[in-house]
Amino acid sequence: TNDEWKGLEKTYAMIKPDAVAAGKVDDILKIAEDAGFVVVRRQEQRMDAVRAGEFYAEHKGKPFYANLVGFMSSGPIVACCLAKHNAIKDWRALMGPTNTFTAREDAPKSLRAKFGTDGTRNATHGSDSPASAMRELKFFFPNLRLDPIPEGAAAREY
Ligand code: PPS
Repeated sequence: TNDEWKGLEKTYAMIKPDAVAAGKVDDILKIAEDAGFVVVRRQEQRMDAVRAGEFYAEHKGKPFYANLVGFMSSGPIVACCLAKHNAIKDWRALMGPTNTFTAREDAPKSLRAKFGTDGTRNATHGSDSPASAMRELKFFFPNLRLDPIPEGAAAREY
């Protein structure tokens, strides 16, 4: 049934302004679906600098923070909820290394290698843990029903 994703791990995936502006959203989500991800939610929106700063609050104070916030508020993004067994780790693997140039060297088939532009404009984002997936999904999809992470569990499936 099309409710099957409900029992699978969810991650927050984001298509960044460079890839949206380049018209690559459908190509990226097709690759995700071919890799076994269910696109549970998909929503284009624009973040202003305040909202982008809030999303990336954990990086406040790092040298790249202003650049990152400026880039992420420079144009529309596509916010997604993806579901799959091991969605969090597998989406990060599909994206490849953070830096586009490293991705092209080390993981030429990855999304960032294919669709990224440079060290700042790297096409996609993905949550790095179950806790950040929960926070990030709630940040963009406050009405999406997410089961709580069981106390003490690895929470791969929730
Ligand atoms: S850290 O310090 O190790 O946590 O940083 P890292 O995981 O490499 O990156 C965290 C996010 O910051 C983005 N980033 C940058 N943006 C703009 N300019 C520069 N120089 C830069 N370096 C890192 C990086 O793309 C990560 O964004 P997300 O959206 O989380 O993938």
